[in-house]
Amino acid sequence: MQGSANLNLMIKAARKAGRALVKDFREVENLQVSTKGAGDFVTKADREAERIIKEELRGARPTYGWLGEETGEAAGEDPTRRWIVDPLDGTTNFLHGLPHWAVSIALEHKGEVVAGVVFDAAKDEMFVAEKGMGAFMNDQRLRVSGRRHMIEAIFATGIPFAGRTALPATLQDLARLMPVCAGVRRWGSAALDLAYVAAGRYDGYWERGIQSWDMAAGLILVKEAGGFVSAVREGQDIFGSGSVIAGNAELFQPLCKVLREG
Ligand code: IPD
Repeated sequence: MQGSANLNLMIKAARKAGRALVKDFREVENLQVSTKGAGDFVTKADREAERIIKEELRGARPTYGWLGEETGEAAGEDPTRRWIVDPLDGTTNFLHGLPHWAVSIALEHKGEVVAGVVFDAAKDEMFVAEKGMGAFMNDQRLRVSGRRHMIEAIFATGIPFAGRTALPATLQDLARLMPVCAGVRRWGSAALDLAYVAAGRYDGYWERGIQSWDMAAGLILVKEAGGFVSAVREGQDIFGSGSVIAGNAELFQPLCKVLREG
């Protein structure tokens, strides 16, 4: 894919942070067997990855604003553009030595995400999308799945750390959805859940109680791969509501219908 200078910058930053995280991940796997926990270590890994990304992106585009999971918000001279970054989406997986986590970087322009990169460094899968240019994984064009029947579909969901307040509603969602579809997965990385919808691996995904940095890059991947996204409540803003439904062209509406019945 012939990406813009900004997209190439995002890919470069994601690769650099991903490389550092892969090194830390090998150590976390060793820490797992030798100690009781690796919490502080992971925090350090998250922070270092965000530092690497910030240095790359803000170094090259000092006027853009910033929103990062670890370092929070910073306004830029240019109020129309900001980076939205989760340096390590799937922290709990990382902490447990599970190779399912990603670097997520999005660029927002005038309130709309215009480019996104989700890098699964452990599997070397680089998912990228830019507005109007399509979505790709390692240079291979992505399309959402063509599945048309709910009963054949696999959906993914996420439950924020320790369930938080989203747990009761998500359990109700599961009770309504599971009898009418082929299965529901909960793998612990929203960025990868969305990337997998874009790649046609999942037919849809939803989550309640989610942060913008977890989903910003994934949203444009789904849209550019021919899928649809919205907040759980019809008409609400996705980031504002902290909720999302994503799906392929055929099953997005049926999925919305089931999730909105409650
Ligand atoms: C979490 C993951 C998880 C989702 C949570 C997120 P983090 O991100 O994306 O799948 O269910 O809502 O907070 O904390 O690992 O960056």
